[in-house]
Amino acid sequence: MTIQRTAVVGAGTMGNGIAHVLALHGRSVTLIDVDPDALASATDTIAGNLDRQVGKGHIEAEEKSDALDRISTATDVAAGVDDVDLVVEAVPEEKEMKAEIFGALDAHAPEEAVLASNTSSISITWIGAQTERPGQVIGMHFFNPVPVMTLVEVVRGQRTTDATLDAVSGLAEDLDKNPVEVEDYPGFVSNRVLMPMINEAIFCVMEGVAEPDNIDTVMTLGMNHPMGPLTLADFIGLDVCLHILEVLHDELGDDKYRPCPLLRRKVTAGELGRKAGEGFFSYD
Ligand code: 3HC
Repeated sequence: MTIQRTAVVGAGTMGNGIAHVLALHGRSVTLIDVDPDALASATDTIAGNLDRQVGKGHIEAEEKSDALDRISTATDVAAGVDDVDLVVEAVPEEKEMKAEIFGALDAHAPEEAVLASNTSSISITWIGAQTERPGQVIGMHFFNPVPVMTLVEVVRGQRTTDATLDAVSGLAEDLDKNPVEVEDYPGFVSNRVLMPMINEAIFCVMEGVAEPDNIDTVMTLGMNHPMGPLTLADFIGLDVCLHILEVLHDELGDDKYRPCPLLRRKVTAGELGRKAGEGFFSYD
């Protein structure tokens, strides 16, 4: 199956990054969000990030304008998916919202279209069960910043077919990403391994083992990580980290995933990381 016409639902950080790479690699993209302001701001962000790539000499100015020409916007799922080969959903991690969106996608997207989710923590099998086409439902888990990070976790739900898996893995390769197939278990591989490290770094802060910048320096200089775990937690969003840890804890039932009380306290206080201007570090 060739994937040429696409739609992305959700114009936040992940959604605009996914639309960016699809358009840059020759796919038409309808970016869908109920909020027209979010669509305007996503389009500006994509243009800015494409400019950055032109400035670095990674792409030509013409590739930037061609990519922007391939992106259209819509505020209604029904209007945006009637002729697509693939939809990637990238809305917040709320099960009710995902159920509603996948119900609408199932009703309005062509019968043969693949419905992918960028979820980091909700079961692909569960999402598939909200539709009449679970064989064509799959996880396509991108990483932030999407134009830079080369991994896509391709998550196979219980009913996902080989044909769907092959189509989505082939597309990820066309986008210059490395698809890695994983099974549908909580947190997949990425967040099951990453979040306990971030959580442990937060326990180190809470217990006074070291100051936040020293904890990060240990991991950047000692382990060659590009960002320390606390900077990365701020980058991802502390609310997102807490939510993923809660899913791991609830669904795997092991105390090793219990969210650190300091993480809960900061989320309750609204110190959500970079997007809030305050997390483990302060941002302008
Ligand atoms: N669009 C296009 N290009 C971008 C970009 C964007 N949004 N953001 C950064 N870049 C480019 C820069 O232009 C630069 O290009 P160059 O190498 O040609 O000079 C390159 O990326 C590096 O950027 P910077 O020089 O600005 O900054 P850094 O060298 O500090 O790198 C970083 C920034 C790429 C974010 C790096 O710090 C990093 O890799 N951090 C870790 C990110 C990470 O772990 N992400 C995964 C989060 S987990 C997740 O997303 C899953 C979810 O489920 C939680």
